[in-house]
Amino acid sequence: MNMHIDQAKRILAANDRGGYTVPTDRLYPFQWNWDSAFVAMGFALYDIDRAYRELERLVEGQWADGMIPHIVFHAPSETYFPGPNVWRTTHMIPTSGITQPPVFAIALRKLHEAAAGNDAETRTLPLYEAALRWHRWWYSARDPDGTGLVALLHPWESGSDNSPAWDIALARVPSTTDTPVVRKDTGHVDADMRPRDEDYRRFIHLVDTYAACGWDPAKQWEKASFKVAEIQTTAILLKAGEDLEHLARLFDRTEDAIEIAAFNNRTRKAIMAQWRPDLSRFVSRDLISGKDVEAATQAGFIPLLSLDLDKQVAGALVSEMKAWSKDLKVAFPTTKPGIASWEPKRYWRGPAWAIINWLLIDGLNRNGHADVAEELRRSTIAAIETEGFAEYFDPVTGQGCGGLGFSWTAAAYLWLER
Ligand code: DGY
Repeated sequence: MNMHIDQAKRILAANDRGGYTVPTDRLYPFQWNWDSAFVAMGFALYDIDRAYRELERLVEGQWADGMIPHIVFHAPSETYFPGPNVWRTTHMIPTSGITQPPVFAIALRKLHEAAAGNDAETRTLPLYEAALRWHRWWYSARDPDGTGLVALLHPWESGSDNSPAWDIALARVPSTTDTPVVRKDTGHVDADMRPRDEDYRRFIHLVDTYAACGWDPAKQWEKASFKVAEIQTTAILLKAGEDLEHLARLFDRTEDAIEIAAFNNRTRKAIMAQWRPDLSRFVSRDLISGKDVEAATQAGFIPLLSLDLDKQVAGALVSEMKAWSKDLKVAFPTTKPGIASWEPKRYWRGPAWAIINWLLIDGLNRNGHADVAEELRRSTIAAIETEGFAEYFDPVTGQGCGGLGFSWTAAAYLWLER
């Protein structure tokens, strides 16, 4: 057997904390939302029971209003900031108060298909219900005006915490905090690979603001000094919505299917309206300034995942992706190389991430660019085989950066190598 497959499985086993998987030891010692969705797809290839457990443990953290939080603090740990005492949420199991990209239903459909025949429906149905409640939450709490694009109230909700996409919007957020900022991450990983202190102060300012709203969605919407209708999250929500609609039809949930199809149709049109031919990318919208977010980041290409684009639009996206990837050791960069905000080692300001590549590969295949998808797949696999299962990769040197023995990189390897 390919020894890297064996290693990937060993990483997932080592990061298992009892039915859920931490992204990596110490740096991220709890259950993270979108990490777990990717991890579940990895498990689905060889241990379907464990794959379902991953999602079941995540929904233990689901709130009464349907939100699935970005972190579930199943067991205490002193190695992470901000912990439960900063979030001050009231769910029975402590959780954070914000959410993360809704990859969950994409994973659920894959699990259901992998489980086929083996009690699949009994296991899938409760998770389907949880996913539907979460999707309803997205559309009510994060798109109260019914635009079809969902908004983030915190950069952490994007999963792309310190992306240049937030530079303008985050600069408006005060850097004062009620909670003292006591970072732990820079004790585990080189500070040059992490967000800056000033980013952290603004991140925590937002947490303090929303905690003071008692985490009430309407109050947060009113008080938010950061509010971005975000293209990557919305594109993921649409793909997840398609998969959810598919499951609804499979289970003869006709009313659900109609409701989900209406969400999806609205969102499909809204994403299309964010296409900017002059940039050859899709853009997010800053809801506070009312302006496009033009920062050149990977987010603008993620709609490939959930739209069947005109040949011309898909072709323009692919040419732009090729231009960004030219001369890089590892594609795909999360910031356009060479621009002022490009930092090839700093977290979401340039590095290549296996899970982003996974989404892009699916999107390229969907839109008739199997050759480019295959090139990206090989480049991702080669990066991992050379450097190990790092959190992410410096696209110029190929160096593995951030946390090591990383769960979603292991899951991505298993998925891309299957
Ligand atoms: C972190 O702590 O860096 C996480 O990305 C926030 O979810």
